[in-house]
Amino acid sequence: MTWEWKNLDEMVRPLVREALLSIRPYVPGRPIQDVMREFGLARVIKMASNENPLGPSPKAVAAIQAMLGELHRYPDGAAQDLRSAIAMHTGLPRDAVFVGNGSDEVIKLVAETFLEPGDEMLAPYPSFSQYDFSAHVMGATLAPVALAEGFAYELGEMRKHIRANTKLVVLCTPNNPTGTWLTHTEVAEFVDSLPSNVIIVLDEAYNEYVDAPDPVRSVELIQAGYAVLSLRTFSKMYGLAGMRLGYALGNPSLIRYLHQARAPFNVNAMAQAAAIAALTDTDHVARSRASNLAGKEQLYRGLERLRVAYVPTQGNFLIARVGDGERVFQSLQEKGVIVRAGFLGLSEYVRVSIGTAEENEQFLKTLADVLGKTADLR
Ligand SMILES: Cc1ncc(COP(=O)(O)O)c(C=O)c1O
Repeated sequence: MTWEWKNLDEMVRPLVREALLSIRPYVPGRPIQDVMREFGLARVIKMASNENPLGPSPKAVAAIQAMLGELHRYPDGAAQDLRSAIAMHTGLPRDAVFVGNGSDEVIKLVAETFLEPGDEMLAPYPSFSQYDFSAHVMGATLAPVALAEGFAYELGEMRKHIRANTKLVVLCTPNNPTGTWLTHTEVAEFVDSLPSNVIIVLDEAYNEYVDAPDPVRSVELIQAGYAVLSLRTFSKMYGLAGMRLGYALGNPSLIRYLHQARAPFNVNAMAQAAAIAALTDTDHVARSRASNLAGKEQLYRGLERLRVAYVPTQGNFLIARVGDGERVFQSLQEKGVIVRAGFLGLSEYVRVSIGTAEENEQFLKTLADVLGKTADLR
């Protein structure tokens, strides 16, 4: 039977909220199966979405399996056990913890809670695209503040951009996609210098990977009474990106309004069980951290041999200056290595997630091949 949709575009478009029409859709890293099919490849490695190459914690997997027979029940909408576990883990009380369907959802809920049309969100540039999306979806604006030389933060510059309608100031540290980071001293001074009517959103999706001196201690800032929301995720170090679980820490005066904006059962039961178990698996975290540090050194050394410049990173990814980022991305993909390119303001770079030793080796070899530098790797 042939059947065609009646085209309703002309009728629907005038009904769509104006704010939505100008939004650029999010471009995710490409799934492995897609690339295998398109290029007829038997083996493809994905180093595109800053996932944990060691996989999820076995304890999390067991916890998911153990609760499969209960899936006919709704989850605890208030996620009390999980929020208690995160509270224990961070040293804050449970009412300072909010959980969401990935920190993507938490970012969107922060915007939905605080931004009116005409308000402004300040964020670094280049940085994670969801800030821009969340501001625009609310009809608010995003004021991008360019990172300085070497993609370092210049917080003095950011401070100068704060205006009467600035409500949210985002700092992403370590910053995606540049891998550059802030110290606790820098963040504490900045937070203290802000007017009392702005909220600071500290996106710390990669904070568990930081090994640089003076790491940010956002819990201390929250305890000291600053209007700081610290965003974390189980998608990176905890290896649970597919489960979708992120959280916010903050003063209960802020957190209670995020609860008002959320859907009744925004975090599913498997995610809740998995995250509680993952928090107890300190071995998995230690292994993942060590693997990331070793992989980072491996990529640094390999890129140096290829004479490809890179930006030192505190995350589980780095950006490398390869010339035409889009072309190199395409060529790597055709040879079975998925990375990311096309970040605004970074046309000469690709971003590669730090993989296992074998994946890193494969990436370096394929990059050498694509850049015509195979001799340099020997
Ligand atoms: C800086 C940053 N924040 C938030 C997220 C979203 O993470 P989640 O998987 O928890 O939605 C990411 C994911 O890549 C990220 O890089």
